[in-house]
Amino acid sequence: MDRIITNFGFRTTADEVAEGVDLTGKRAVVTGAASGIGVETTRTLAKTGAEVTIAVRNLEAGAKVAGEIMTTTGNKRIRVAQLDLNDRASINAFVADWIGPLHILVNNAGVMAIPDLRKTPGGWEMQFATNHLGHFALSLGLHDALASAGAARIVVVSSSGHLLSPVVFDDINFAFRNYDPWSAYGQSKTANILFAVGATIRWAKDGITSNALNPGAIATNLQRHIGGKLATPPERQKTPQQGAATSVLLATSPLLEGVGGHYFENCNEALTVTSRPDAYEGVAAYALNADNANRLWDTSVDLLGQYSKQS
Ligand SMILES: NC(=O)c1ccc[n+]([C@@H]2O[C@H](COP(=O)([O-])OP(=O)(O)OC[C@H]3O[C@@H](n4cnc5c(N)ncnc54)[C@H](OP(=O)(O)O)[C@@H]3O)[C@@H](O)[C@H]2O)c1
Repeated sequence: MDRIITNFGFRTTADEVAEGVDLTGKRAVVTGAASGIGVETTRTLAKTGAEVTIAVRNLEAGAKVAGEIMTTTGNKRIRVAQLDLNDRASINAFVADWIGPLHILVNNAGVMAIPDLRKTPGGWEMQFATNHLGHFALSLGLHDALASAGAARIVVVSSSGHLLSPVVFDDINFAFRNYDPWSAYGQSKTANILFAVGATIRWAKDGITSNALNPGAIATNLQRHIGGKLATPPERQKTPQQGAATSVLLATSPLLEGVGGHYFENCNEALTVTSRPDAYEGVAAYALNADNANRLWDTSVDLLGQYSKQS
């Protein structure tokens, strides 16, 4: 299959990508939409007429964002629901409360470069747990809702940070290697891409496809652990609206109909690379590898310990 190339690019905004798109009657979930890229992803999806549920840790912050988006877009179907990706009970409650079809799931929430080795109550390294495992459990839980939509898309927000590390299957939790904040982030962001590959392999038959993306460098709360500043030079930075553009492309573009298992940046499919490029662009071959994707899927199922391999 040829690389998917669009008329959009580095500076395109989410609103520009969604121009002319009508998602009235469709339902979307955006995780981590109380700040940053998730807010703008929600805003643009709201403008298309979709019902959007923002899944957030902090309901008060979520309600504030939802209120502002309802006022500015005129779309009153913006819902807020509690979701902590490190808390299985919270994920299960979100899934249990979801009724009816789900057309678009944007796995957007994330943490970056936690300075010290932190573990979740489940005993998992915090970045892998939040960025990958929590979203994995959420997606599995929402599988039937996605399948009942007929044609559903899972959009996975990864990062160029995936170029920093493959998933180190023999030591995901840093039990043997020294903890490094960026290796842990890189590992979790590679897992995001492998999830998109694995989900498409398993669920395309159910009408569910999944693609991953790098949003670019955007000043948000994500930089809280690195002094609140982006290291990227200003001319390589994007606004949150530009940062949300590739997510919205993958969620809404007719070009992506039935397409899954790919990785995009700057609104175009990325080139596959076999070593880390200086410019930190492209997608590592290890992140698209089907064997790695299947191994991660089985490992994640084992880690969660409650889903059957047939799911
Ligand atoms: N900004 C960039 O330059 C950049 C570059 C590459 C990739 N990304 C990716 O883009 C995505 C969005 O990041 P952002 O830049 O918009 O950062 P952000 O403003 O910090 O947003 C991340 C969101 O994730 C939420 N979150 C964190 N841990 C969570 C948990 N355990 N359960 C539920 N939600 C949780 C945060 O909630 P709280 O508000 O409660 O903390 C926050 O709302 C992330 O996946 C990130 O890795 C960003």
